[in-house]
Amino acid sequence: MIIHKTEAEIALMKDAAMLVSKTLTEVAKVLKPGITTLDIDKLCASFVKEHNAIPSFYNYHGYPHNICASVNDVVVHGFPNNTALKNGDIVSIDMGVILKGWHGDHAYTFIMGDVTPEILQLVKVTKESLYKGIEKAVINNRVGDISFAIQEHTERKYGYGVVRELVGHGLGRSLHEDPQVPNYGKRGTGHKMKENLVLAIEPMINLGGREVFTDVDGWTVRTQDGKPSVHFEHDVCVKRNQALILSDYSIIEAAEKTNPYLNSSYY
Ligand code: MF3
Ligand code: CO
Repeated sequence: MIIHKTEAEIALMKDAAMLVSKTLTEVAKVLKPGITTLDIDKLCASFVKEHNAIPSFYNYHGYPHNICASVNDVVVHGFPNNTALKNGDIVSIDMGVILKGWHGDHAYTFIMGDVTPEILQLVKVTKESLYKGIEKAVINNRVGDISFAIQEHTERKYGYGVVRELVGHGLGRSLHEDPQVPNYGKRGTGHKMKENLVLAIEPMINLGGREVFTDVDGWTVRTQDGKPSVHFEHDVCVKRNQALILSDYSIIEAAEKTNPYLNSSYY
């Protein structure tokens, strides 16, 4: 069932999405070698609770943490752990909140210091592909137009692996609503979008092959070939001429730019 939101509901969803953006901005300020993803989990949970919201991933289908912290070959759903982050790591932080009954759910991949030019390009192109997908989130387009745009930019143009097993999704009073938003597909196919459909669009793009597997912990998704993977996610609202992006990378990027341990040289 596809649920469209009222303007008042969109305003509340904007607040939820922005709380995630603000949380990821706090992460961008503190990330440095030596910090652990469990430290980040704690910081995110405290920040969200201070803002009268609930971390939504905790206990979602039994998920045992507040955030997903996916480092290097981990595609998504990585458990925060006690391993110190180090120079050369790439780390996706994915956070969900419930604020006044509405979900925000978005993610950003940070680069810790020095990485190879090919990893830098993977991060750049994955972020670009998210915006190419978002450009298609306008009324009378179909979900397949979003999917195709992401796949074109990453797989066809750069030969990256587009993960098939995990997809973007509708967002609202539930974390996962219809429709599913794959990062691969055919133009002109799938659900025809109307105004005020809210979507979480989230390309998961591998430097190598598209194949992934789930760890023995039942959650952590890794690349089969052990090569790195990048994940970006925005919450967007379908509009007539241009999608409204409810989340905001500009505040995350401003913090990233001033953090000497983070590499933002690709944008
Ligand atoms: N952004 C992810 C998603 O939409 C996060 C869910 S992780 C879980 O599927 F822990 F909540 F399952
Ligand atoms: Co999501």
